[in-house]
Amino acid sequence: MKIGIYVFSATGNTARVCKLFQERLLQGGAEVAWHNIEDSYSEDVAPDKYDTLILAYPVHGFNAPTIVTEFAKKLPKLKGKGYYIVKSSGEPAKANRASSAQLNGILKSKGYDMLDEFHYVMPYNMIFRHDQYMVNKMWSRALEAADIDAARILEGKRGEIKQHIRHRFISKVFRIEHGGMRIIGRHYKVDTDKCVKCMKCVKACPMGNIKYENGKFVFGKKCLGCARCSFNCPVDAFNISLLNGWKVNGAYDFSLKEQPDGKLCKWCNKSYKRYFSQKGSNSIENQ
Ligand SMILES: Cc1cc2nc3c(=O)[nH]c(=O)nc-3n(C[C@H](O)[C@H](O)[C@H](O)COP(=O)(O)O)c2cc1C
Repeated sequence: MKIGIYVFSATGNTARVCKLFQERLLQGGAEVAWHNIEDSYSEDVAPDKYDTLILAYPVHGFNAPTIVTEFAKKLPKLKGKGYYIVKSSGEPAKANRASSAQLNGILKSKGYDMLDEFHYVMPYNMIFRHDQYMVNKMWSRALEAADIDAARILEGKRGEIKQHIRHRFISKVFRIEHGGMRIIGRHYKVDTDKCVKCMKCVKACPMGNIKYENGKFVFGKKCLGCARCSFNCPVDAFNISLLNGWKVNGAYDFSLKEQPDGKLCKWCNKSYKRYFSQKGSNSIENQ
């Protein structure tokens, strides 16, 4: 079985989950090829050479990021080509279930056949920083579910997709965020006293939207709001304009070596409870 994994991950969470899938699929005897969606505009993405595809993304405003939907628009028509979705989001809110609606619509119009969706809750890279207790719970759950979900892919299993009309509506309304980010992203600022000119942000922006010209950072009109620049800045020098109060800076620790006492966070408490009490697969069918 040949599997092509197409991933967009701004700050590493979705990629981290997909690495679990990749390891387990390889162990199960599949051939697995990894494509970063942001590089796939220039490279030959050739989905026809795979038996099954996996498309992976972080949920942005109850939707797939535009870089992913734009990528899907560029895929060739392929009748009956089965694909799975792996998505990560900071909270298990039900509205995230419909985040794939637009993406699935694009792929369906090209003949692709959606087989199942796997939803992994991972620490927020925007809004607020999850504590180590929550990070450990999320990552332990991911390790457990990835075994089962990768096996489902190897067996070619299909999940029953439940996307309530209310969640589809929320997802549609929140698409406004994509346009909003293009405006907000033009007003980012870098604190030049803190900045060490490492240029990590310039090099890492998936849209090539950050330039350093004549000693100044210039932000273009293509911001995705993915948070890669502000999250990875080694000296926390970014001000992300209207969203600055929600900024999260710095990598999380997924080593699981420390098991602090803690509580589920209050925000979305019920849905975290539901997510962590779930056993087995992270298929949307079980959620
Ligand atoms: C602009 C933006 C919007 C987001 N919107 C949502 C959301 O609607 N629901 C949610 O649960 N998490 C949301 N998140 C959190 C991310 O989905 C989450 O942290 C994800 O694991 C990040 O994955 P990545 O590291 O692969 O980019 C958002 C993050 C960003 C940057």
